Amino acid sequence: MEHWLETCRDLSELKASHPMMDAVIDEVDGRMIRIGEHWLADFASCNYLGFDLDREIIDAVPAYLDAWGTHPSWSRLLGSPVLYEEIEERLTALLGTEDSLVLPTITHIHMSVIPLLAASGTIFLDARAHKTIYDGCQVARSRGAAVKRFRFEDPGHLDELLRAERDPTRLICMDGVNSMTGNAPDVRAFAAVAREHGALLYIDDAHGFGVIGERTPDEPCSYGSRGNSVVRHFDESYDHVVLVGGFSKAYSSLLAFIACPTDVKDLLKVAAPPYLYSGPSPVASLATVLAGFDVNERRGDDLRRDLSVLTGRVMECVERLGVHTPNRSGFPIIEIPLRDYRRIGEVGHVLFEHGVYATLAAYPLVPKNEVGFRIQVTAANTDAEIDALIVALEHLAARGELRLVDDDPSWMGEAA
Ligand SMILES: Cc1ncc(COP(=O)(O)O)c(C=O)c1O
Repeated sequence: MEHWLETCRDLSELKASHPMMDAVIDEVDGRMIRIGEHWLADFASCNYLGFDLDREIIDAVPAYLDAWGTHPSWSRLLGSPVLYEEIEERLTALLGTEDSLVLPTITHIHMSVIPLLAASGTIFLDARAHKTIYDGCQVARSRGAAVKRFRFEDPGHLDELLRAERDPTRLICMDGVNSMTGNAPDVRAFAAVAREHGALLYIDDAHGFGVIGERTPDEPCSYGSRGNSVVRHFDESYDHVVLVGGFSKAYSSLLAFIACPTDVKDLLKVAAPPYLYSGPSPVASLATVLAGFDVNERRGDDLRRDLSVLTGRVMECVERLGVHTPNRSGFPIIEIPLRDYRRIGEVGHVLFEHGVYATLAAYPLVPKNEVGFRIQVTAANTDAEIDALIVALEHLAARGELRLVDDDPSWMGEAA
């Protein structure tokens, strides 16, 4: 207990004392949330398309509950409502993959599929991959796989490691749109390296699915069209590529997928424990995914355009203030590092007092020189909410709390 409490001391102090940590949300009204007496504009949810509040999607749910009850409660191997077949067919068509399999969460997929694909071979792991990918690799390691890390955003380093590797079974694991930087990897370069070395590229695009998609001449914004994820965004094929994603962010539902060839899907149906043993997603989640597909087809590109315009307003403010953000893409995840990591609690209070709810990224969630806060914009945010955020950012910049573009990124505060 003492060892872990000491390791997580900064975070546990924040959790105990800060209104933006472990908060109880009493009420929502659009993208405004109420915590006790305080109404705040929410920039911490991942409901990028605003489907959680979409009347058409909400109204679609009761008919599914009438037909199926609240929960199937069979493991998928025992039996799956036909809704699963419909979801997998529509998803496969949207992504343009050979096939797909859905399971409740991405975490379930990483923990079960990475060990299967890696077997006793070698995993090449992106040094900044999401924690759940790391955990999947740990399980694989415990079953005999080796794990080697390559530098973040560095396909050249990956190429070097693969060139030096003798093991014929090679799996590369990495994020699509990164949950901290908001940037997408150069999928073309990584896919080319994977193919050249006979490796399988496994990409988790939790934050890109629904937000970015294929590029078209008439696309409404630089996010592309249809929200069909990072592989299509880079006009890449699925040759040597497996794509994982989820509906729990842009689609506001509890379901996740792996897009893969049919023979891999067939293997997972007998070898991936969550398919055999885990409970399924609730019927309301299956319903909101299906209704979400309809809305995505008809209004998704308009919502993505709105999302890019709102995000653009925040990015313009950050640029005008000379404040640093790792976001180079204009996608709706904007991390703002602090000058001094020890100020995270005070900075959080300033945001709270300005009516802004953001994700606090405290140590040890992130390294000390990356401590800051993350803003996630959704299509359901209003211009007035963005105005409030801009005022808060201006105030924090004027107080010298935010790292500037010209600051030394290794500096984290005087005593650090
Ligand atoms: C990149 C990434 N992968 C996986 C997950 C976990 O997804 P799930 O809740 O479906 O397990 C998250 C959640 O934040 C994420 O950001």
